Amino acid sequence: MAIQRLGHVGIWVDDLQKMTNFYSEVLGLQITDATGEDVTPGAVFLSSRPDKAHHELALMAGRTNHDPGRLINQISWMCESLEDLQGFRQRLAASEATFHEIVTHGMAVGIYFYDPEGNRSEVFAATGLDDVPQPYKRAIDLDQPLDGLLQDLDRQHRADGIPSSLAQPATDLDLFSADVVADPFPVLAQLRALGPVVYSTRHDFYVLTRYEDVRAATGNWRSFTSAQGVALTDEFNQQLVGSVLASDPPEHSALRAVLSDKLAPRGLAATREQISRYAHQLVAEMVARGTFDGVVDVARVYPVNVVGDLVGLPMEGRENLQPGADATFAGFGPFNEYVMEHLPQLIAYTDWMGTMADRSKLTPGGWGEAVMDAVDDGRLTQLAAIKTLSAYLVAGMDTTVNAIGSLLRLLADRPDVWAALKADGRLAPPVFEEILRLETPVIGFFRVATRDTTIGESVIPAGAKVLLHWEAANRDPVKYPDPDTFDISRNPVDHLAFGWGPHACTGQGLARMEAAALLEALAAQVGALELAGEPVLGRNPVLRGYESVPLRVLPG
Ligand code: HEM
Repeated sequence: MAIQRLGHVGIWVDDLQKMTNFYSEVLGLQITDATGEDVTPGAVFLSSRPDKAHHELALMAGRTNHDPGRLINQISWMCESLEDLQGFRQRLAASEATFHEIVTHGMAVGIYFYDPEGNRSEVFAATGLDDVPQPYKRAIDLDQPLDGLLQDLDRQHRADGIPSSLAQPATDLDLFSADVVADPFPVLAQLRALGPVVYSTRHDFYVLTRYEDVRAATGNWRSFTSAQGVALTDEFNQQLVGSVLASDPPEHSALRAVLSDKLAPRGLAATREQISRYAHQLVAEMVARGTFDGVVDVARVYPVNVVGDLVGLPMEGRENLQPGADATFAGFGPFNEYVMEHLPQLIAYTDWMGTMADRSKLTPGGWGEAVMDAVDDGRLTQLAAIKTLSAYLVAGMDTTVNAIGSLLRLLADRPDVWAALKADGRLAPPVFEEILRLETPVIGFFRVATRDTTIGESVIPAGAKVLLHWEAANRDPVKYPDPDTFDISRNPVDHLAFGWGPHACTGQGLARMEAAALLEALAAQVGALELAGEPVLGRNPVLRGYESVPLRVLPG
């Protein structure tokens, strides 16, 4: 099973003599402490730690086993295999009479969870005997599979109002693997159902998938900082730190201010006509061709040139932009095969960007020049300027590329949406918002927890990496009923595809303007739009979108 809880089944007694008998008679154990004194065991745990590749029987010793301070007396048996553990369970089962006798002698049965570091003390703190009605009785069916047993107990506990307060759902799935990237939504639904916070044993981070939690954390920079980078690996974060994306207020506000005028509605108004002209010209070329690839010929061309022109980049070398942005985005996740495969693109892009510090290459009046002006008057260092420019180029590129690819695929798939759009151009904005929700281009970025933060029943410890899963949040059925369906009437303006809070996408106005201009040009020039072949989903682990959407259009 890929997704499971890291669990404990705990049994503890208020009749310690019975428990001692249980250990000595049933398990044949003599327990002594470090001085060789006999100690009275207080509880027995069965645990299964798939992440640690071992299974464990732990005996809690000492009368004061309720006290986390006494955990030092814990004695553990490590079972190297599940068979060992099962062997132990069989012995328990064989001793049914004794076992049930203990159950009926007023003992509590609990289900407890390790914290992600495997720190057992929180097991006790979490469960808190004070929360357990005494005597609390629960018989355990030892023939159940372990997973079922754990989940069953957890359910019964909750039904009885006993908080399993440190219940820490975990997954050993690689959320950035090719399999998950190819079909993420069933996995994301499972994660959302497991709990508000799920720990990734594979890459050592916590992931938030429920809309309200993701939004709150995205807006809460004091608890979830961007200043240590918003990627998974420290290596990649070193490159990001100090950019607009990877900083906190007040530094962040200063970096963001450099281009805020140009990206504000008034600044953008000056470019609206230019973008619209370009969209009409591109669509006219496609209509003349009849068949083309919506990704290769439109989505990867249009934003590259729009943003390239706004920044004032030379035409020469622009071919580095989209592949460079794609490779950069992939680097926000683990350094997996996809990242390695795309390293050459990343290097070519970085080399090319390095040459942009020479302002003679930049068209006067563009964003590039505005950033260089900020270097001249001391608001930015040269390095921060390149990082800032790069952040805009990367962020403004593959995000929009993927959104437009998904949009074109949807229009070809859904003649009803296309017809509605043709009939009423005012539907363009809600269509774009809904595609951003449904096919969220950036699946999520990371933050680092600055302090222990409790969400639901989980504690995210200070220093932990946290993945804000915007893609999962945007399909949370609690927020958006029937979330897997494109609904033209939904107009989900509060989706999280552009993030939220202080780092909310600065380019969202531009992205919306680009989409509106393209939809308007399509509606004006295209009669029918259909798939001319099977679309191919992209493989980038951090982005969602298409690599190819073959299309056929008829004028009209
Ligand atoms: C559909 C298209 C787009 C999507 C889905 C998108 C998505 C996002 C997201 C999710 C963030 C938040 C990052 C975070 O919280 O860590 C972000 C930030 C940002 N985006 Fe976009 N973006 C898009 C288009 C653009 C465009 C066109 C530009 C500019 C040319 C742009 C520039 C930026 C910048 C500079 C940031 C960093 C803002 C900050 O950290 O304060 N984006 N974007």
